[in-house]
Amino acid sequence: MFNTGSPAQGKKFIDRIKHLKKFDMFIQNNQHIMIKAPRRFGKTSLVLKLFEQKKYNTIYIDIKKANSLTALSQLIIDEIYSLIGVNGIVLKAQDSIANLFKTLKTTLKIDTKIIQLTIETLEKHQKKQINEVELFLSSLDLVEKIAKKQNLQIKMAFDEFQDILFLSDKSILDKMRSVMQHHQFITYVFLGSIESVMNKIFANKKSAFFHFTRLMDLGGLDIDELSNFVIKFFKKEAIKIDDFIFDLIQYLDGHPYYTMKTLQTVYFNALQNNKKNIDKKDCIIALSNVLLETKPYLDEMIDRIKIKAHHHRVLWYLANNQKDQDISNIMRYKTYVSLENLGYIKKIGRAEYIICDIFLKIYLQQNNDMKLIQQQIDFIGLDYMGNKK
Ligand SMILES: Nc1ncnc2c1ncn2[C@@H]1O[C@H](COP(=O)(O)OP(=O)(O)O)[C@@H](O)[C@H]1O
Ligand SMILES: [Mg+2]
Repeated sequence: MFNTGSPAQGKKFIDRIKHLKKFDMFIQNNQHIMIKAPRRFGKTSLVLKLFEQKKYNTIYIDIKKANSLTALSQLIIDEIYSLIGVNGIVLKAQDSIANLFKTLKTTLKIDTKIIQLTIETLEKHQKKQINEVELFLSSLDLVEKIAKKQNLQIKMAFDEFQDILFLSDKSILDKMRSVMQHHQFITYVFLGSIESVMNKIFANKKSAFFHFTRLMDLGGLDIDELSNFVIKFFKKEAIKIDDFIFDLIQYLDGHPYYTMKTLQTVYFNALQNNKKNIDKKDCIIALSNVLLETKPYLDEMIDRIKIKAHHHRVLWYLANNQKDQDISNIMRYKTYVSLENLGYIKKIGRAEYIICDIFLKIYLQQNNDMKLIQQQIDFIGLDYMGNKK
């Protein structure tokens, strides 16, 4: 089945064969890594897949879920204790430190010194004797100490890592690095959606994390793997498919989310209409359905882009492959850099950029609202004979 909405797991996970192999080689050898790709490109799916496949001791933290450094630290402490068998320790500590101490001492086969250290850290933070940065760094050290005592090798993933900069100022990076570099029992995996920010953190010579990780770039899904998956799937369902579906896959450029969503719609439409034969028109209808379904998300994105001067205009010209004569080269360049920093575009060569979200690009190519509403969408570059007019 084609999965959307949550990270692709189990049999729904397609391709990434080379990535999984390389990723596993690194983390088996305790090599920290950084994986970057735009939103919805399958970073979370990839990490969860590897964590599910292998019997590693894992901690997965989504930085987006935390609204402060304190919350992030608490997540980390909760996760490491869950790993050794106690759930929800932060909440228990807020209830009663004394009770928690007793519970931990009786339930855990672990050095009381570590329990004491945990309790002390939580207590000091409660009493405001340490600030949230100190709490955060202590939580990282706590993971290492517990891992060492229990002789565990822990694989710890930080998803949407660039968001750490919303929780604290830049100096947090130096502080984290100086703590993490001493850790022998944790292999760190950093995932990030905004290419330029991730590059600044991990690939810039002046940055704290320079040389700390191996870098992995995650592109779209492999077109052949996707096509094979589709062939097998529809064969099993006894549904015939027109070869045009492969042009459609190509057109979506391996974008995991939009490809899955479109294929799922092709399939659901066939089921609903009791069709055992999928033709070109069905593919175009499904693509239009998904574009219209995504419209609110894209509109929201465009509203955000419009707030900044020139951004929408520069993006529009990029999507439509036209040259804007009315903007200076310097201004265009500055706007590209800003759009890249915001994660909307990606540099692929000297002064050459692409739009990361293929649907945003298609949407920006629709210059007639009426046609869009009537579902007569122009899919520029997709050579089809659907009922366009
Ligand atoms: N390997 C994959 N196989 C099948 N579908 C995938 C795969 N990777 C991603 N997807 C699809 O893309 C969506 C977004 O993936 P996700 O891992 O959440 O991306 P990210 O973490 O980069 O934002 C998933 O819900 C799923 O529909
Ligand atoms: Mg993700």
